This record gives sequence, structure tokens and C-alpha cells, in this order.
Amino acid sequence: MDSIVKKILELKERRRAVILAHNYQRGEIQDVADFTGDSLGLSQQAAMTDAEVIVFCGVHFMAETAAIICPDKTVLMPDIQAGCPMANMITAEALREKKEELPHARVVCYVNTTAAVKAESDICCTSSNAQRVVASIPLEEEILFVPDKSLGAYVSSRTGRRMHLWPGYCPTHHRILSHDIKKRREEWPSARVVVHPECTPDVIALADHVASTTGIAKYCRETDAQEIIVGTENGLIHRLQKESPGKTFIPATPQATCPNMKKNTLEKLLWCLEDMKPEITVPKSIATRARLAIQRMLELSTEPSHAVKT
Ligand code: 13P
Ligand code: SF4
Repeated sequence: MDSIVKKILELKERRRAVILAHNYQRGEIQDVADFTGDSLGLSQQAAMTDAEVIVFCGVHFMAETAAIICPDKTVLMPDIQAGCPMANMITAEALREKKEELPHARVVCYVNTTAAVKAESDICCTSSNAQRVVASIPLEEEILFVPDKSLGAYVSSRTGRRMHLWPGYCPTHHRILSHDIKKRREEWPSARVVVHPECTPDVIALADHVASTTGIAKYCRETDAQEIIVGTENGLIHRLQKESPGKTFIPATPQATCPNMKKNTLEKLLWCLEDMKPEITVPKSIATRARLAIQRMLELSTEPSHAVKT
């Protein structure tokens, strides 16, 4: 075993910590984590852990969500600079202004938002429960969906609900072009195509299956297809290959790499356990309101955790 991995595991025991890793993290971080999963699975895992310290290897909004759900735990992140550009495409102030324009709308916020934006929202969602969350809102209610216009458009097409969409998007998923999918299909004619709902509608229209990162992993384990074209951030392929070693996974494009997800490294993970920082905290007044939006979502997502033990 690598000496750095050994040190991380020893220190993790000493600190009574759990390491949670998003499916887009570097392979070596996924391998050292206790659980790997999508945004929903990792929130569920944070909610149920009895560890005293949560080390969140993902981007800032994910660690913030864990800090909101677990106010009495210490939440650390290897690199506090790992943000999500989509989450920064909406501020609490801009959302408040929009709410004044649409005073009757219920606000559904994607989990890829700051705590302050969640605090201004009625209910949160992730890519794996967005349809269920939207469908839970009475038909007569108007909906403002923030900030991902691609996920919003996909959910709208699946549920038949018209929604006001905030014009945010994921810069990494928008680098996957319909041209890339068509080219890959020509190169791999027997392959299936699976994509994340943060992709643009024209890419989604070419896919055989659309799902969250953990949903993509499930599809890849269960499909008869031996070759799968993957339209999401390429870090997920590490997990896919580990779970289905006999299958061939083809990235839709090498461009789909989220630089923020890659900011966390094994070294920074070790240092954060050594120094017990950087710690993620959320002011109580914001956390209390944001928690309501997250809890409403978790109550609608009672099936067992989407995160897997690594
Ligand atoms: P998942 O919830 O599907 O893991 O997605 C999170 C994310 O940031 C996708 O870009
Ligand atoms: Fe944000 Fe996109 Fe990176 Fe996910 S992949 S963290 S949505 S920028």
C-alpha cells in the first residue's frame, strides 16, 4: 500500500472521520474513500453517519450541504477552492429579485447552489430525484427551477410541467456536443449512449439513457451492451471500469473534465486530516432555512443510499 494512503487511513481512524467522495473525483481518491456516490447518495450518507468528522471530497456546495445536514459534525474539504461554476451562476440576491417578479412561484433549487440560495428556495433536488421533486408540487402551482436550464428543460420534458428556468448551466457538460455523440456512434456502432441530464437538450435527444452519476453506474452494470459511450464528466469512468471490468467505456469527448473536481488530491486529503482544516461552516441563520429545503428533498427520497462502499 502507498505510504500516503496508509497515513490517510491511519489518521482517518484516529480522527473518527468518514471520507465521502463524489463519482467525479480522481480515481485514487475514490479508492481511499469510505463511500463514493452522487450528490443525493452522499447527502444521505452524511445524514446517517456516526463519524465525528466528514471529509468531503467533492466541490464546495456538496461539503456545505453536509455541514447544513450535520450541524454538530466537523466538515472538512481537501481544497476549499474547489467550487462549482454553475452554483456561482446564481446569487441569493438575484434569486430574491426574481421571486419578486414571480411572487406565486415555488422555487426548486438544484443542489448545485450555495447555502444562501438554498435558504431562498422551497425545495432542493439532485439529478436523481429532480423529476420526483417537481412532480410533488401541486399542478396549479407555478415553478421557478434554478440554476440549471439543461436539467430544468429535461425535467420539464419528462414531467410535462412548464417551468421558469434560470439560465445557468454546467460548463463541463456543455462541452459535450451532439457532434461528439454522432461521431462516437459511427466509431462504435453496437455501443449504447448514456448521458447526464446536465448535458444540452440536443445531446440528451441522442442518448439511450439519461441519469445521475450513480444512475449511470447502475445502467452500465445492468445493460447487456459491452460498449458504452459515456456523456458526463470523465472521472466517472474509473468507477464504471472497476464495477464492470469486462466492458468498454468510451468518453463522449476528452473535453468533459471538471477542473474543480480535480483540485482535490491525495496529498491535500492527508493534509486536511492532519491540520483539521479547511473546515466548511454555514452561518446558523442561513443553515436553518437551507436545511428545510434539503430535508423536504430527503423526505421524498427514502430509498436506501445511492452511495457505495469503496
Ligand atoms: P450527480 O448528483 O449526478 O452526481 O451530479 C452532480 C454534479 O455536479 C454533476 O455535474
Ligand atoms: Fe459543477 Fe459541472 Fe463540475 Fe458538476 S461537473 S461540479 S455541475 S462544473
